[in-house]
Amino acid sequence: MRKIGVGLLGFGTVGSGVVKILLENRQLIESRLGASLALKWIALRDLEKDRGVAVDASLVTTDPKMVVNDPEVDIVVELIGGYDPAKTFILKAIENGKHVVTANKALLAAHGDEIFSAASRKGVEIGFEASVGGGIPLIRSIKEGLVANSIQGLYGILNGTANYILTKMTDQGEAFSDVLKEAQKLGYAEADPTFDIEGIDAAHKLTILLSIAYGIPIDFEAVYTEGISKVTPLDIKFMKEFGYRIKLLAISKDDGEAIEARVHPTLIPADAMLASVNEAYNALYIQGDAVGNVMLYGPGAGMMPTGSAVVSDLVDVARNILRGAVGRVPSMGYQPDEVKARRIKSIDELETEYYFRFSAEDKPGVLSKISGILGRHQISIKSVHQKGRDLVGAVPIVMITHEAKEAAVKEALSEIDQLDIAKDKTVLIRIEDWG
Ligand code: NDP
Ligand code: HSE
Repeated sequence: MRKIGVGLLGFGTVGSGVVKILLENRQLIESRLGASLALKWIALRDLEKDRGVAVDASLVTTDPKMVVNDPEVDIVVELIGGYDPAKTFILKAIENGKHVVTANKALLAAHGDEIFSAASRKGVEIGFEASVGGGIPLIRSIKEGLVANSIQGLYGILNGTANYILTKMTDQGEAFSDVLKEAQKLGYAEADPTFDIEGIDAAHKLTILLSIAYGIPIDFEAVYTEGISKVTPLDIKFMKEFGYRIKLLAISKDDGEAIEARVHPTLIPADAMLASVNEAYNALYIQGDAVGNVMLYGPGAGMMPTGSAVVSDLVDVARNILRGAVGRVPSMGYQPDEVKARRIKSIDELETEYYFRFSAEDKPGVLSKISGILGRHQISIKSVHQKGRDLVGAVPIVMITHEAKEAAVKEALSEIDQLDIAKDKTVLIRIEDWG
């Protein structure tokens, strides 16, 4: 049976999952591929660390150059994470004519164009299924399963750690920092968990999705990004009373003229399908012009789900090698000369409904002052609840608006927050009610 040589860079959470799957499902993979995926190298840093998977010591090296320079390695799998040296090793592997599989969304969202161009020039493949949505085959679904569609909208829960934290805060009233520690223990969080909490990881993933959905160059800076670190138990309590659930959503919409691209905490109706996506699960709700609405759901992080996606890329690349069909599907789903920039809207252009929580002094006339300012900025109120006093004497006034313009909202809130009755900065959470 023909052997396709595989070299692994990184033997952490995902790397261990990949090795486990290659060993435990070897026969199954061979019967589907018609060849064997032969593990040639595993590069790591710490030779003493227990990985929970037994591997032959002769496969292990602390020198990644052994992996990227070995002529017997056909596919290099980069699971180190971060920008450098991951990028250096990937570019070296490409230069050496090797195909590359990576789960590194941070790197692709920053340097994807350079990596994809290098691969295209060299005639090798880049597989990155594991970079978005963990074990859910999102990339392949958009590039291949939905190839007939113009993508009109994407609504994604794309960060397992943030979804895990919001779920535990909402359903069990757990504290933010405790839940983050749990997510880290379970292997969901990034090396720098700020990426998960501040929406950066979800924005990296949305950046990749935008490129393959719309055929635009990678542009992470164009994605508006806001994380979940300011979400409070008080707001979770109020939004439940209004019939909403909070999710860190990655959203894009294409109106034909420009594209919306944003990641932020979002209120969605409690009975929306995405509202039932909990813990470290991810989902992507896709609006295609031909297919209609499709939702893909599954485990969004962790050792085995992510390992499953990495191995799916290995098999895909190996199939193309075996049939002499390398490059059959372009890396970004579009022919390289068809990738063209489009205008990405600024967040100020957004028009949506909003949740506001004002903290104001409890005295007559407060509500009319606030509603007067909102009215002058054409922001119309859908419902309002005035809650009991908190311990320091401020009254939370919670409002849901009709659709309003973000630029007007910013101006109105800045005026309200400067009033002498204002006790704290107003909380703003965007609402998405797409039916
Ligand atoms: P880990 O931190 O668990 O693993 C990283 C591995 O890389 C470790 O084995 C480490 O070695 C090794 N490593 C780091 N630097 C070097 C180096 N210079 N030379 C050789 N080996 C090195 O990360 P994860 O497995 O969690 O993540 C890997 C990638 O997958 C990241 O890009 C991440 O964003 C992505 N990803 C992770 C998911 C998850 O659920 N964890 C899900 C989807 C994507 P050592 O162990 O010896 O320190
Ligand atoms: N840290 C990421 C998450 C891993 O929590 O979703 C999966 O990409």
